[in-house]
Amino acid sequence: MINYDAKTHRFHLQTKRSSYIFSLDHGYLLHLYWGKRINEYRGSRPLIYAPSSFAPYTDPKNRGFSLSNLPLEYPAYGNGDYRHPAYQAQLTNGSTVTDLRYVGHRIYTGKRKLSGLPATYVEQDQEAQSLDLFLHDPVSGLSAILTYCVFRDFDAIARSVRLENRGEQPLRLLHIASSSVDFRDDAFDSLTLYGAHNNERNIHRQKLAPGSQVIESARGASSPQHDPFFALMRTNADEYSGDVYGFSLVYSGNFAAKIEVDHYRTVRASIGLNPFDFSWKLVPGECFQTPEAILSYSANGLSGLSQVYHQLYRSRLARGSYRDRLRPILINNWEATYFKLNEKKLLAIAKEAQQAGIELFVLDDGWFGTRDNAKRSLGDWFVDRRKLPHGLTWLSDQIHEIGLQFGLWFEPEMVSPDSDLYRSHPDWCLHVPDRPRSLSRFQLVLDLSRADVRNYLNQTLTDIIEKANLNYVKWDMNRHMTEIGSALLPPDRQRETAHRYMLGLYQLLDTLTHRFPDVLFESCSSGGGRFDPGMLYYMPQTWASDNTDAVSRLKIQYGTSIIFPPISIGAHVSAVPNHQIGRVTTLKMRGDVAMSANFGFELDLTRLTDEEKAVVKQQVAFYKKIRPLIQFGAFYRITSPFEHEDAAWCFVSPDRVEAIGYYFTVLASPSPALKTFRFQGLDPQGFYEELATGNVFGGDELMNAGLNVPDEKGDFHSYVWRLRRFKKNGQ
Ligand code: DGJ
Repeated sequence: MINYDAKTHRFHLQTKRSSYIFSLDHGYLLHLYWGKRINEYRGSRPLIYAPSSFAPYTDPKNRGFSLSNLPLEYPAYGNGDYRHPAYQAQLTNGSTVTDLRYVGHRIYTGKRKLSGLPATYVEQDQEAQSLDLFLHDPVSGLSAILTYCVFRDFDAIARSVRLENRGEQPLRLLHIASSSVDFRDDAFDSLTLYGAHNNERNIHRQKLAPGSQVIESARGASSPQHDPFFALMRTNADEYSGDVYGFSLVYSGNFAAKIEVDHYRTVRASIGLNPFDFSWKLVPGECFQTPEAILSYSANGLSGLSQVYHQLYRSRLARGSYRDRLRPILINNWEATYFKLNEKKLLAIAKEAQQAGIELFVLDDGWFGTRDNAKRSLGDWFVDRRKLPHGLTWLSDQIHEIGLQFGLWFEPEMVSPDSDLYRSHPDWCLHVPDRPRSLSRFQLVLDLSRADVRNYLNQTLTDIIEKANLNYVKWDMNRHMTEIGSALLPPDRQRETAHRYMLGLYQLLDTLTHRFPDVLFESCSSGGGRFDPGMLYYMPQTWASDNTDAVSRLKIQYGTSIIFPPISIGAHVSAVPNHQIGRVTTLKMRGDVAMSANFGFELDLTRLTDEEKAVVKQQVAFYKKIRPLIQFGAFYRITSPFEHEDAAWCFVSPDRVEAIGYYFTVLASPSPALKTFRFQGLDPQGFYEELATGNVFGGDELMNAGLNVPDEKGDFHSYVWRLRRFKKNGQ
């Protein structure tokens, strides 16, 4: 899978369907090719070393060897390349020029763990092969290991970088990307996922233009504004055809991704930690590890790319016993009660839920301190006896007795100024000297770079999880960072705070998820505000958005599916008019949209009519039948709500025996066009029975001719076709 040719000095990394090739020259790593797999690369399209104006050269005998024109694997700043560098370090003498050159490499079976960071993994060494490239700059003493890992079962390459100060003076890292790739032309569009609270992960596609496009976060979280992901798509590529390159960062904090088109219309694309307001002091002997970037190439359009990310992230990024266990259907009390909760109400909802076949009851915000509104008590993680006089353990026992699992909401990373915790530890939050501490949702951010803060949270959460016998934890985080500084760090390390916070958070999550392997953790950040691969490593599902309106969810879930598998996307049926945007949609459509992901409910079931309760019961029973298909099947996007008013998608089981298709119509039309639903991913040779009608059709017919979408009056319809492979080949 990884081959080094000592004669040509070429490295060839192969996945099943892609090749990634670079070579060595003057100690630099020059990028040669990334794309469809080449069996034996012989260099039909060599690099052109032509002297050109304004192109500096370091080798006086070779004017053509200019870093400003060559495609580089891990470019530096200061010695000829004017495009954005992959890293930059400052020496004690103040200079910021470094020059890392190749000194050796190692190819090995397996994949190393990244110390302190979430990352993809293998279960057996044979699943991957890795390459470590050793680079060194003797003047500064800076050394680097560039790691490339190639998976046997996925068309993906994991890249990360480890820097070490082998010199005698301290160094200051100013910038260090996880990956940088140079392409020799710019005939690409970029695709990014942008959004806001209640409107996460919209798809944005635009043609590359001379200059730079940056997506980033400086908010202390990956953020709903931009996901740490982008794709480069050949201009003729679409959902099912054409070359697409994906770049996804396994990180939950400040990141930056930059796509630069230079004056020769070549492209440099990088992703990693955001250099803005970042620096890291590296004393002699110390190392710095970057997060991992997952690069993937698909010759089959965006869908092919998504399939790779879905499979890799579901099976070799997400961890824990729930990775492969069917996820429970949950009911969450938030939109039913908000802060006005009491034992009677909660138990009444739980009983209804049990009768409907729901499996897990989640008690959301408002159960602790004196939390009657969002203004107080974060940090005071003891039960509010006014609302729950018998305590959490009693409530948990009651819920378990009813026949449901029990889960609880926390917002561990935060503190309310009006809390006992803040009154006793005012220095435990992020802050800088002599400045007011900006509030957001009335709260401050605890400084998770501090071990004492982490120990407090670890102890507190451990006690509650044990005493209340929790089966599930919802880990919320509802504001971004301001006045980013830590009381414990010296002045010259203050700009390390945001990254040290993330390392602290990861450490805390690692401890808790290992201590409670059977507890299902769900991450949340005002919905999907920190929906990223870093979080997915610790928590296999994320509440995708506070917006539960079924029509808004079409886009949110469709956009999220570009890289995240549907089972990682929390989706609930909620009340109408919808609490976020006031729209009234049908219960059927709300159910079908939520069932296309990780299914749950978030409404007061006791207030439904008998007829509605019967529908809920049917939905739960139906989801139980299709749950393995949703969790383990391949997901295909069919009609984009970003391009049409309607949306459609389908799931196909890994053995292609079962499938389910969904078509959603939003608004009724006075002159409706004929609509067709065409499956994707079926076996074209196989025959399938449509379970509702008993009709049998060939997989090729269902994918090419398709099925008519019924035409009904009214807004907000959803149509579902469930298929099972027909054994007797259509007879
Ligand atoms: C934001 C979350 O996204 C909601 O689901 C809910 O848990 C609230 N926080 C509670 O404050």
